[in-house]
Amino acid sequence: MNNVLRSLCAGLCTVSLACALPSQPVTEQPALIPAPIQYEWAVNQPGFLLSNGIKVDSATSHSELGRAAIRALMAAGLEIQPEETEGDLQVQLQANQAPAAYSLKVTPLGISIEVGSAEALHAAAQTLAQAVLKDAAGQPALPAMWVKDAPQLEHRGIMLDTSRHPISVADTKRILNLMARYKLNRLHWHLCDDQGWRIEIKKYPLLTEIGSKRKGTACWIKQTEVDNKPVEFYYTQDDIREVVAHAHSLGIIVIPEIEIPGHASAAVTAYPQLGNQDSPGFAPEVVTGWGVFTHVMGPNAFAFQFIEDVLAEVCALFPRAPYIHIGGDEVPRDQWQQSPAAQAFMQQHGMTRESQIQDYFTHLCAQVLRKHGRRMVGWDEIMCAPQLPQDAVVMAWRGMDHARIAARRDHELILCPIHAFYFNFPQSTNEEVKPFYSGLTGFDHIDWKHVLTFDTSVPGNKVIGMQANLWSECIPDMKKLEYMLVPRICALAEKAWRYGLPVFPDEFAHRLEAQTPYFDSLQLNFRQEDNAPRRP
Ligand code: ACM
Repeated sequence: MNNVLRSLCAGLCTVSLACALPSQPVTEQPALIPAPIQYEWAVNQPGFLLSNGIKVDSATSHSELGRAAIRALMAAGLEIQPEETEGDLQVQLQANQAPAAYSLKVTPLGISIEVGSAEALHAAAQTLAQAVLKDAAGQPALPAMWVKDAPQLEHRGIMLDTSRHPISVADTKRILNLMARYKLNRLHWHLCDDQGWRIEIKKYPLLTEIGSKRKGTACWIKQTEVDNKPVEFYYTQDDIREVVAHAHSLGIIVIPEIEIPGHASAAVTAYPQLGNQDSPGFAPEVVTGWGVFTHVMGPNAFAFQFIEDVLAEVCALFPRAPYIHIGGDEVPRDQWQQSPAAQAFMQQHGMTRESQIQDYFTHLCAQVLRKHGRRMVGWDEIMCAPQLPQDAVVMAWRGMDHARIAARRDHELILCPIHAFYFNFPQSTNEEVKPFYSGLTGFDHIDWKHVLTFDTSVPGNKVIGMQANLWSECIPDMKKLEYMLVPRICALAEKAWRYGLPVFPDEFAHRLEAQTPYFDSLQLNFRQEDNAPRRP
């Protein structure tokens, strides 16, 4: 045992408890993803035996922090024994640490966790869960180890697109579990788009009665072929609360997205008054194909009230989301150009360009959200709005140039450049069936190495997050979704947790390889190095 660990063991022995039996020597080493910022483990030494679970004492189970730690450990899959007089676990708040920082000490006699706040307990718990190995007798054990860790970015996420292909509540929870394992802490939930509105809004029942239904779905390779299988799907408000609660139990915050004012075909189909009814050929429908469509919200009283009402219900359903996503991407101006009402609105407000209508919507959203104590996050197109509120968070998707512009304008930003973090793109050049948009990025494929090594540097310190987006035009089911997500999710998690630190792809490859038993334990259909799915 090295000196650091020897002194740790000595320290722990004096304060506790020591009812645990040491494990046999632990010969393997943990393969943690993301790698902690600082760590040491003892090789070939006895560790903490887990075959009897982790015992907690009554002091731990009666303190708020202790109970939160127990919940986090159980959510991470560790077994906790019912309260006893003596325990294996010590949990402490350490006020001088950053809220998301944690330290761990594992000795043969116990586990000690120190956190900057209760929020960090989840990361600590997942580190322990990932560090479970077998001792020389084949029993589950944690190696004696010491970890001091903190994320470099506060928002580490995955975006799920539920409009193009819905994802059930059960499958969403499965994805949340996987995210938590790798310390991803934000689910960006894309809940509406041209192809379907998926969130129940009590004040506007037609959004789901009409807007959640479409006649069929375009083929993901050849858009002109549409099947005639109706799609009808939405999340009730109870479903939403269930997903939000499950995420919370894993330390994940759900950020909902309501697309305003574009990608609005489904909403406008449900409520034509929301659109530009006087524009030529106005005949909205829930779209069966893919792309950017002309139906956008109209600058009218109905639409403004709609935004107030919908965002009010959304804020209530997502009480922990510090910012709410208002979309803002890919807004065609055609209808505004052709609608006499939209033109009259422009004149009334001294506007000279149709893009100013979008700016008006952006400011309205910011104002409404502020009333609810929330900030706004939007796709990088929202930066076009003059005097964009300084607290608006920019989600940079069109590339690192847009990220750097946002930083220069002093906006906090979340990185998800299409060139590396669009997990709907193929992972190799020889993937047999290429989706219709293949090649859009200038890279012929995005594999985990590309994710890990892509240059995401932005001068200054405005980057608060990083996420991968899984647009689902070409992801019809969970099998495909898992294939697109795993193992790239691991590279994303590593890069976001250790943002700005050097990456070593060869070393990472070993840790990635070591995840296979975990992926298999979940029966995941992950992509293997030979490009094959695990479960074809
Ligand atoms: C986007 O990919 N349109 C944000």
